[in-house]
Amino acid sequence: MTYTQKDLISTQNLTKEDIFSFLNLADKFKNLNKQPNKKDNLLVGKTVINVFFENSTRTRTSFEIAAKRLGADAINFVGSNSSTKKGETLIDTIKNLEAMRSDIFVVRHDCSGVAKFIAENTDVCVVNAGDGLNEHPSQALLDLYTIREQRGNLDNLTVAIIGDVFHSRVARSNIWAMQTLGIKLKIFAPPIMMPQGMEALGCQICKSMEEAIERSDVLIMLRIQLERQDGSAKFPSIREYSKYFGLTKKKMQHAKDGLMILHPGPINRGVEVDSNVADDKRFSHILNQVENGVAIRMAILSTLDQNRYKGK
Ligand code: NCD
Repeated sequence: MTYTQKDLISTQNLTKEDIFSFLNLADKFKNLNKQPNKKDNLLVGKTVINVFFENSTRTRTSFEIAAKRLGADAINFVGSNSSTKKGETLIDTIKNLEAMRSDIFVVRHDCSGVAKFIAENTDVCVVNAGDGLNEHPSQALLDLYTIREQRGNLDNLTVAIIGDVFHSRVARSNIWAMQTLGIKLKIFAPPIMMPQGMEALGCQICKSMEEAIERSDVLIMLRIQLERQDGSAKFPSIREYSKYFGLTKKKMQHAKDGLMILHPGPINRGVEVDSNVADDKRFSHILNQVENGVAIRMAILSTLDQNRYKGK
């Protein structure tokens, strides 16, 4: 294991070796997860708290299962039911959870930078499970894991990220990690959902879905993240969006053999991806991503816990 930090906040500071060490460790947990008895004892006696201030289905459940499979006590703290609603500050909340001798906080919040802020103010390990539109490192690692598992390696790859890239923490964490691995990136997004500086980062900006698909090995489809746009869609209509940015079988006519479709979920069927694409096991790896997410999160939790005690 080369990663030495007690927290995982971003993929921007990960080296190639760090990324592969998480993926390789996840291989071991993926095998364990296929056994009738899925338990390891690496985190027995540890307390993992999911500190979630934003909605989640996959990520929260996945971290909870990961913690429990490693033998930890996993607790779900739902921000909207908490004393932050009575005026308690975020740091006071964290200090109280820390006083209960917790070991790992898995944090999701709608403000960018919150996971880093918490990590700087606690000795407990912190995993960023999504901070605003900033980063979602465990999602990028599970995406890379899913691609490597299918293709055997991550060499000579072209990945297209399509949709609401601007509001996507999944896109940001993937872009940083994929750049570190030398993966060629294409971006296709409506102009108002295209972050600035993508070309400077070496990404190819596409003008059509066809350009994004042709010669790509992987498509990462993104949801329109209305909750990060003050509730109002910044485009004329959903129908128009799906006409230009939605993935249909027809648009995949000139796709390379073996093209992989990924989506972090939740899917809006018929908007960013048609059901007959999302459910076609020849292309769609969406449920493999979900399965792999548990193994990746087991790798993350066990690595951080080990790092916290190194040298102590
Ligand atoms: C994503 C998220 O919340 O950032 N989903 C996830 O964690 N699996 C993407 C999204 O909500 O569209």
